[in-house]
Order: sequence, then C-alpha cells, then structure tokens
Amino acid sequence: MANGNVNDHYPLSQGGTEGDRLALQYIATKKAFGWAQPYPDSVDIANAHAILDLAAGSCVWILDIASHPLVRPRVRRPSSTDTDEEGIRLYACDLTAAKFPPQALFDKAGVQAFEHDVTKPFPEELYGKFDLIHMGLVVLALRPAEWAAALANVHTLLKPGGTFWSVDNDPVFHPPSESLESVERNGHGVPACMEGDTWIQKYNSVYTRTVMRNGTYYDLSFRLPDLLAQAGLTLTHARRCIGAFGRCGDIAPVLATEYAHTADNSDALHAVMANAAFARGELEAPAGHRITTVEEKEALAREMHVGVREEGAYIVLHEHVAVKN
Ligand SMILES: C[S@@+](CC[C@H](N)C(=O)[O-])C[C@H]1O[C@@H](n2cnc3c(N)ncnc32)[C@H](O)[C@@H]1O
Repeated sequence: MANGNVNDHYPLSQGGTEGDRLALQYIATKKAFGWAQPYPDSVDIANAHAILDLAAGSCVWILDIASHPLVRPRVRRPSSTDTDEEGIRLYACDLTAAKFPPQALFDKAGVQAFEHDVTKPFPEELYGKFDLIHMGLVVLALRPAEWAAALANVHTLLKPGGTFWSVDNDPVFHPPSESLESVERNGHGVPACMEGDTWIQKYNSVYTRTVMRNGTYYDLSFRLPDLLAQAGLTLTHARRCIGAFGRCGDIAPVLATEYAHTADNSDALHAVMANAAFARGELEAPAGHRITTVEEKEALAREMHVGVREEGAYIVLHEHVAVKN
C-alpha cells in the first residue's frame, strides 16, 4: 500500500493534494468536452430521482450535480424519509473515503457517500434504483475482469431506461502535430509511442508502460463499446476529444487557459509513476535504457517538465453514454 491504496495496481495517490488535482482536472475535462451541463443531453435531469457517482474520488462530479439548478431544490437529505415524487437522492462511493470532503459538505449538499469497491456486489436496496450513474477516470484502476464486474453492477443498479455515463481517457501522450482523427483511425501506435528519444516517447515509456504493466487498458475508448454491450447496456452516444496538457493551445484553444495546471498535472502524473517504477528498479526512458540513479530520474522529470510547457501533449478523452433497456 505504498500510495495508501487498498488496490495494489492503482498507481495514483489517495491523499495529499490528490483531491485538488482531481478538482482542476474536472474543470479542464468540462472545458475540453464543452458540456453545457454536467450530464448527457439525453438525460431528463428534471425527472431523475436517484443519481450515483461511482469511484467518485473527491466527489467533484456529484457535488457539481448537487448544485445544479434543476437538482438543488429537489435534493432530499439522506436522513429524510420523504418519498415524494419531486425528490432526488444523490449517492457517491469510492474504494476509499480518503479524498472525500468533510461530512459537513455532504450534509449541506445532501450527498450520501460510502466506501465501496465497484467490482463487488452493492447492497440490494440500491438495485434498480438509479436514473443516472456516472463513472469517471477509472482507466488506471480497473483491469478487464474488473471492468466486466463493475459494468455488471451498473446494469443491476440502473432502473430500466436508466443511463450510464462513462467519462475517461486513454493513457497515451500524443504530440500536438498528430491529429485526433489519425489516432481514431490508426490507434495509439503502441509500442512505437513508447520507443524513441522524444520527450513524449520518454513520457509514455513511463506512463503507458505502467498502465500495460498493471494490466489496465491504454486503449479504453476502443474497448468500451464491447464492454458495455457485454454488460447488456446499449450504447447511445460516444465521443472522443482532446485532453491537452501544457502548451497545446493550437489544437485545443479552449484549454489554453488551463495551461499552467494541466502542465502541473502532467508533472504530477509523471512523478507518481516514475517514482514507483524507480522504486521497483523498472524505470526506463527511453525504452531499453534503465535509470538507476536519483540524478538521472530528476533529469528525466526536468525534461518532461520543459517538454509539456514548450511543446505540449494531449491524451484522448472520451465519453460513452449507454442505456439499460
Ligand atoms: C483518478 S480518480 C477519479 C475520481 C473521480 N471519478 C473524478 O473524476 O475526479 C479514480 C478513483 O477511483 C477509485 N477507485 C479505484 N479502484 C476502485 C474500485 N475498485 N472501486 C471503487 N473506486 C475505485 C480511486 O480511489 C480514485 O478515487
């Protein structure tokens, strides 16, 4: 549990400033997709009665929903026994409460949060309850069998006609010179994207290699349609967009204002994965060159720091909306 994690292959930290990182990442994600509201267009939020955020982290999404004008006046507190037709109940869960905000904030927002592993069966009283389930940014957490288990749970928890909204990414850095269309057409170019001497190839030799080592998907957007279908969920909408880091304004102008914190986010992701790989004696950059000294690891971090600020990079963000028939 080197990161305070209860899941041995989840590489990100559970404490410290991780909640702040997730909050800023959420702002950038909303801008990248250009959402008019924090839920799919097809969801009739005014008539939803129960919403669940799975693997909620710091609960940034469910708290955003809680403050939405069509939701806020209708929220029923967890302690309320009202079963009126107007009411809406908000739930969030995560493997760990480590990044949850203080209980007072949940009380104010009317969110019922609990610790739960999305791959394990949920309490029966929640079966068939939800109009909308959101699960965001779990690509580094779930292996193939865990995706299957989590999506089977989603199916069980949704009402007939209920909506599942996945918002996630494919953890491979691409240079701004490579178009999103070419990635959509040709895939991520693994392993070439991890082999070579550019800063982005070195970044991927740590980042994407960690994902592959852990057995999680680096190409989740290409897998999700089948995973959803196997869980009995009907895909109704899928979209990819550019999640820019640092200087990437030419291809993602909408994210130019996020330059500083997306560059910091790139540094943070690199640091957590490089430090773990170094501790295991597996840090390589470029691929095939083993880094064995702290000085060389720090020089690599500086190269990544400069690269993201001078050139920039992007990952593929994606949203999938699916319905339980
Ligand atoms: C990158 S964070 C994303 C958090 C949040 N969804 C967001 O978009 O900001 C991934 C979250 O998944 C949680 N997680 C990892 N494995 C999980 C599991 N098996 N069940 C529930 N949560 C899990 C982690 O604790 C972490 O909070």
